[in-house]
Amino acid sequence: MKILLIGSGGREHALAWKIKQSPLCTRLFIAPGNPGMTSLGELLPIKANDVMGLVKAAADVAADLVVVGPEDPLAMGLADALQEKKIKVFGPSKAGAALEADKAFSKKMMRDASIPTAEGRAFSNFKAALAFVETRIEPLVVKAAGLAKGKGVIVCNDPVEAIDAVRNIMEKKVFGDAGNSVVIEERLEGPEVSLLAFVDGTNAYLLEGAQDHKRIGDNDTGPNTGGMGAYSPAPLLTDHVLEKVEREVIVPLMDSLKRSEIDFRGILYTGLMLTAGGPKVLEFNARFGDPECQPLMMRLKSDLVEVMLATVEQKLDQITLKWDPRTAVCVVLASEGYGWKSDDQVTKGVEITGLDAASKQPDVMIFHGGTAMKSGKLVTSGGRVLGVTALGDSVPDARAKAAAAIEKIHFAGMQWRKDIGAKAKGK
Ligand code: AMP
Ligand code: GLY
Repeated sequence: MKILLIGSGGREHALAWKIKQSPLCTRLFIAPGNPGMTSLGELLPIKANDVMGLVKAAADVAADLVVVGPEDPLAMGLADALQEKKIKVFGPSKAGAALEADKAFSKKMMRDASIPTAEGRAFSNFKAALAFVETRIEPLVVKAAGLAKGKGVIVCNDPVEAIDAVRNIMEKKVFGDAGNSVVIEERLEGPEVSLLAFVDGTNAYLLEGAQDHKRIGDNDTGPNTGGMGAYSPAPLLTDHVLEKVEREVIVPLMDSLKRSEIDFRGILYTGLMLTAGGPKVLEFNARFGDPECQPLMMRLKSDLVEVMLATVEQKLDQITLKWDPRTAVCVVLASEGYGWKSDDQVTKGVEITGLDAASKQPDVMIFHGGTAMKSGKLVTSGGRVLGVTALGDSVPDARAKAAAAIEKIHFAGMQWRKDIGAKAKGK
């Protein structure tokens, strides 16, 4: 099979690595990819949000399957456009991707299906949002309703912060047009876990759990980021929690999607907070999490292409996923300024050294996110540069292996969290 993978981050590098291992894959194209992926597939210089260009490329290479990594092209209707050309695609329709791209829609779906989530309201009118916040005394969370690269959420401690948040998002547009509408909701407390599921429209198959670390700083301090590291399995996702989430969240959502005739065939990512009142949904995403995808792919033993095909062909009930029982820990190495500055202000273009030595460490994969080649040298090109992912017999073992690899890598301004996996309970 000829496969076209869309995207260029650490998630897509991990997917490319896993897709390439499948005996079903005869040729892999990646658009646009990054320098870490050159040995895995043929890179096509088409941006991930160039929907027309991607559809044309899929037809030109006669792709048997297109795998969409990031949310933007899904929200722009790439899956729909490919299906019109009768090209198989792993990733939901535009209407399905709205579960992620439009938090107001997502909240409505949750409310209609009685899915446990924070109480909240959506506003597209700035004055109405402000008036609402001014009447509240409890801690609130203010979210830009549109896509904001995982950063459009402001967790507030008091009403003054919430008023500021509404002003910043809706008036000053700190997250751009993503802030044309907001969702304002009660602030929940508890640990967070990510639960991903292959979803084929009728069946859902849960992946093993993973835990992200969203804040930039150790001990969960500083601003939210796209994710600074992740590990899998997530001991917090006990069988009891999994059963509850499947029953109270996944099944009702699938029923709702079906009733609304929304085509969702791909990955459903549920961000959960395990509150004293049970698990509650923080958000849905319409694709693999990044970095969660990296430790998950390290642990997945089954043929990813077979599973993706079964998802697209609505045969997930015929699949069994097999996992490496070991723990995988992924530590993101980020550029100077990442987390604090906007993407275009983050330091870029600095040389990266030590990757050869680091890749030789046992049980370690280094997935590229924001890297590029400049004058024959590997340089940084984005906020999250590399995902150093290690497999170990225990969490401490995997952490130690990742740390040993990181010691060999250098680029000016490199920042990373030293506590990824530190709070993981279990072995
Ligand atoms: P989201 O993109 O909606 O998952 O939000 C990003 C992050 O903001 C989450 O991972 C949480 O850490 C935090 N967050 C979102 N919603 C809430 C909430 N209702 N209560 C507390 N924290 C939240
Ligand atoms: N790691 C969080 C996300 O991919 O949205």
